[in-house]
Amino acid sequence: MTSSSKIQILRTVQQVRQWRHQSLINNQSVGFVPTMGALHQGHCSLVAQSLKENDKTIVSIFVNPSQFAPHEDLNNYPRTLDRDLEILSNQFKNKSIDAIFVPKISEMYPNGIVLEVDKQRGTFVTVHGSSEQLEGVTRPQFFRGVATIVTKLLNIVQPTRVYFGQKDAQQCVVIKNLVKDLIIPTEVRVMPTLRESNGLAMSSRNEYLSKEIKDKSSIIYKALCNGENYYNDKIINHNQNSVDSKKIIKEIYDLIKQEPDFDIEYIAVSHPETLEDLDQVTPGLGAIVSCAVKVPKENSNEKARLIDNIILQ
Ligand code: PAF
Repeated sequence: MTSSSKIQILRTVQQVRQWRHQSLINNQSVGFVPTMGALHQGHCSLVAQSLKENDKTIVSIFVNPSQFAPHEDLNNYPRTLDRDLEILSNQFKNKSIDAIFVPKISEMYPNGIVLEVDKQRGTFVTVHGSSEQLEGVTRPQFFRGVATIVTKLLNIVQPTRVYFGQKDAQQCVVIKNLVKDLIIPTEVRVMPTLRESNGLAMSSRNEYLSKEIKDKSSIIYKALCNGENYYNDKIINHNQNSVDSKKIIKEIYDLIKQEPDFDIEYIAVSHPETLEDLDQVTPGLGAIVSCAVKVPKENSNEKARLIDNIILQ
């Protein structure tokens, strides 16, 4: 039997519940990696971690409409199901994943779903306090959509552990708050960002970029590292007790600004748990330093929005 033939493709909530029930009976832990497909090595590292830490691993592939605004890229979001199934079937040599959940929209939104928030009907989940800033400024419905679909998926899969990538730092904070506030019995595991060899954070949206823009976009991570080096230098070599966030932001801004076609949407220094703006960064508490930058898309006048972050200790 090849590893691929052991993987069950589950299409309905009922099928996942049955699958989960079996692992409960067998007293097996379940790791869950929710995705929107267009899988890359970043997703694979989450799957690999789940395989290491759990008896069973399930991955979901679902492009969730409610986290897209009407003007965003829902219709053009990369959908590569055959390739995704191929990757999940063949990448993991030592231990195979057990199931892939690929629901239809009607399975996840039985009452249907439209993108205009004021026309939506039914139950949605909003995590107040960590959803409005940073990404929430330009994408006000994004985290409501993410929190809603993640709640549904956690209710269906009931995993022992659920895996997310640090690249989506705010999403990780929102989901940790969601799990804590709604008392959902799962452990949220956040794994480090995977990067291309030039430093660019791996993302499904990198598929919109030409090789040239991908290379140029590596400046985003270099700039974040400049900010980190500045902070470390002040703390370690100049014995400062804290560092002014504005100066860290300036280090980052000055480098990204060297790419004339890039538009900086924000650079922020935030509290690692509440995401409030920090005026000063203090060792021990540290900070999340994050940014969103719009870069030219391949063969288009539009821009793709890239996000990235680093953690200061
Ligand atoms: O990070 C993602 O890919 C999505 O936001 C998630 C968590 C799968 C919810 O649709």
